[in-house]
Amino acid sequence: MGDNNTDHHDAYTRQPQIVGMHKTGFNDRSPIHTARIVRNWFDERHQIELLEWPSKGCDLNPIESVWAFPVNKWEPEEERTKQQLLQHTQREWDILRDKPHILENLSASNSLPDVLIIGANKSGTRALLAFLRVHPSIRASGPELHYFDRFYARGLDWYRSKLPLSMEGQLTVEKTPAYFTTPGVPARVKQDLPDAKLLLAVRDPVTRAKSNYTQSLSKHRSRRPFEELAFVRASLGLVNSDWGPISGGLYARHLQRWLDYFPRASIHVVSGENLVRDPAAELCMVQEFLGLRKVIMEKHFFFNVTKGFPCLVMREKTGRPHCLGSSKGRSHPTVSQATINTLRDFYRPFNFKFYKMVGQNFRW
Ligand code: A3P
Repeated sequence: MGDNNTDHHDAYTRQPQIVGMHKTGFNDRSPIHTARIVRNWFDERHQIELLEWPSKGCDLNPIESVWAFPVNKWEPEEERTKQQLLQHTQREWDILRDKPHILENLSASNSLPDVLIIGANKSGTRALLAFLRVHPSIRASGPELHYFDRFYARGLDWYRSKLPLSMEGQLTVEKTPAYFTTPGVPARVKQDLPDAKLLLAVRDPVTRAKSNYTQSLSKHRSRRPFEELAFVRASLGLVNSDWGPISGGLYARHLQRWLDYFPRASIHVVSGENLVRDPAAELCMVQEFLGLRKVIMEKHFFFNVTKGFPCLVMREKTGRPHCLGSSKGRSHPTVSQATINTLRDFYRPFNFKFYKMVGQNFRW
């Protein structure tokens, strides 16, 4: 907001008090800024003139982002006074004055990812990304970019252009679960993002296989039954390990390709089961791994009984409760107990190998 005079904000009542003369400003179009309560607030204050938003108006994030610096360092859980908030803001603002390069960087930084969610497909990777986004130090691309598996020839500038703007101190996250299982990807990631931190969500491979099959059913209606596709010879119990839904769960095999290029310490494994049971606990470990302040906690989640999954109390973009869409949390086709048992036997040695590699027993 263009400020012609002194401006006092009462941060505690959430109703900024504007004192002084005429002011002009822009109000960008993000839904939380155009909510009725915000419009009414402006309507009642005639000393503020809101300018028409240009049809190709630029993003105001770089300006807003300045405020993220003091906000990020404020501990919201601690009991604090208004006076302390003002002092804190003043102090952080003074620190910024001495660091003009930070402000210069605000306008133009599509950084390459610091963090990749590499997989595994159908293990809760979307939930992990959605939950991580709650953190003010996280900037994430929405769609899966498939840079390292499909579009590598387009080059790093293309990749960068698809990533969100971020500021110094923020981590850029990209998620494409196909990275985990595509040979050749670890070498490319090592070359372009040698210091990347890698997040790998995993889930019981038998359930994951059913989930993967269910997803492909939604795309190709006339698919053959799961049990036909899962076996080379069902009568002999010969599992078709080349079939995507089955091979995707051979975690030890895929992980080994990553460990050929990245140290174990660069990879954090997220339990897909625990992400549903106790998302705050799982996110706590993720934040620790990423070196982030623990901002995401129990209060951010509620269990939606209809959906059958944890959801966010408030989505950053809209300020409203948010559950993942209908393509997450689908019901799976019924598969016979005999098939489940055969698949469990099939995966057992791979699972044990995986537990050893990551130092964690998932008890699948
Ligand atoms: P199902 O749809 O088979 O139940 P991904 O995002 O990697 O594709 O994983 C999809 C899976 O995430 C879903 O598989 C679901 O079980 C799981 N999941 C974990 N947390 C979830 C959440 N909060 N909401 C919806 N699905 C969630």
